Amino acid sequence: MSGKSINLVFLGAPGAGKGTQTKRLIKNFHFTHLSTGDLLRKLIVEKHPLGIKAKSFMDEGSLVPDSLIIDMIKTQMTKKKGYVFDGFPRTLAQAEALDQITNIDKVVFLDIPQKEVIRRLTGRRICRKCGFEYHVEFLPSKKGKVCEKCGGNLYQRDDDKEGVIKKRLSVFTSLTTPLIQYYENKLLRMQAIGTVEEIYKKITEGLNLSS
Ligand code: AP5
Repeated sequence: MSGKSINLVFLGAPGAGKGTQTKRLIKNFHFTHLSTGDLLRKLIVEKHPLGIKAKSFMDEGSLVPDSLIIDMIKTQMTKKKGYVFDGFPRTLAQAEALDQITNIDKVVFLDIPQKEVIRRLTGRRICRKCGFEYHVEFLPSKKGKVCEKCGGNLYQRDDDKEGVIKKRLSVFTSLTTPLIQYYENKLLRMQAIGTVEEIYKKITEGLNLSS
């Protein structure tokens, strides 16, 4: 399969590794990355009215209203094929709206135990300047709270605090897991435990992707 001719959805609980894996895929294949979480965070930094509206939902671990998300995705889609959707759709209404816009070929479901999610997300630290992601346990910065690469300050996402992570997980269970059945015929389910490299290999093999 070639990235130009297919659309992929990455489904998974918060911290399952959707962002990590999709960023690798777009580096190696011809996909356009559409991450609703990244798009929303950019709108917040830009103080865009949609970002201001979305922030309170994100900070408390709730989903941003479907209408806002669907409109945002529509403005980003300039072609029919070649997308990797990361963290979208997250509700049945979003999945149905996406089906009106384009056809999805495969859905990768990254399956992860909740205990591992807490470990991954509470330890994540991000550079405010260059966006590089560290982890206090798996990938600590040699300069402590400062980025090794650019000297920027490291911060923790507001929604990566344990209480908010638990809310995000419960929202995932109630609103997003119905998509597993919705996409039953297109689903590639895989355990998202192991190294980033091991999981990436399983994904590319499962999708039959070759560069
Ligand atoms: P979003 O940004 O999409 O967050 P999320 O999916 O809840 O969680 P993450 O992005 O943290 O998880 P991920 O699976 O991408 O994992 P990652 O690769 O980053 O959404 C944020 C908020 O925006 C939502 O709560 C909601 O409010 C709103 N929103 C977004 N989309 C929406 C939509 N469609 N509808 C409505 N609202 C929406 O990895 C996580 C950590 O684990 C990193 O530190 C990473 O380095 C580490 N890691 C990854 N893989 C491994 C591995 N194999 N081993 C060890 N560590 C690993």
